[in-house]
Amino acid sequence: MFTTIKGVRFSFIDEGEGQTILFVHGFPLSRVIWQPQIEALTKNYRVIAPDLRGHGESSAPAGVYTMDAFAEDLQALIAERKCAPVVLVGHSMGGYISFAFYRKFPQSVRAMVLFCTRAIADSAEGKIARENLAQRAEREGAAAVAGQTLPKMFAPTSSDSSQGKSGRPDLVESVRQIMLAISVNALAGSLRGMAARPSAVELLAKITVPTLVIAGENDLIVPASESAAMAGAIPDAELVMIPHAGHLASLENPEAVAATLRAFLAKI
Ligand code: MLT
Repeated sequence: MFTTIKGVRFSFIDEGEGQTILFVHGFPLSRVIWQPQIEALTKNYRVIAPDLRGHGESSAPAGVYTMDAFAEDLQALIAERKCAPVVLVGHSMGGYISFAFYRKFPQSVRAMVLFCTRAIADSAEGKIARENLAQRAEREGAAAVAGQTLPKMFAPTSSDSSQGKSGRPDLVESVRQIMLAISVNALAGSLRGMAARPSAVELLAKITVPTLVIAGENDLIVPASESAAMAGAIPDAELVMIPHAGHLASLENPEAVAATLRAFLAKI
């Protein structure tokens, strides 16, 4: 389905009935990363999964894609679909967006799932690296970003085809194709938006909705220990480590992620 919000055309799915789950993908990805969980959960829940501005099939305005701008897009979408409050599930950059969303629209959040994400802001070096990558994207296109980002997305057992059966070349290739399809505006805009995001560390103790933190046991981008520390800072948060999975746990171990979400949703 498509809708236009403030001049940006968004692609999204809205399927199923019941409590709404809003799935927010990370960078540089699309809603396709949630496909196994969408299929597993639409039997019992209403699932909304947009392509964020500039990603997937959504259109890509120029400019900095701040986490607040992404959050405002999501609020406009759920207002249009009349489905608040939602269970907000944010993967990585989608988690940064979830923090911005919770700050701005707490009344729209029934519960939160913070998935392979972090609360701290970028370091000074991290901000410079983001800007360098944004400029490379502008010069060289999406392949430059995919080349740098893709290898860190998977647990070593998923991405290393030299390990024979444990390598997942088809999975890695399908994610590469998602990354290559993302517009330069979205790559540069999201990188600059992530660099500008504030820390959410002070927010953690103020989260009052049921919260689940999901970590990939072998996440090379957000180490599982960092997710555990974040969960410890959120009142009554639950922590689940997904085995045999890295940063893209939703695709690397889809059944375990779907079962974890189902168990959490049954409790709230
Ligand atoms: C993501 O998966 O969204 C990115 O790894 C987040 C980041 O670059 O900080």
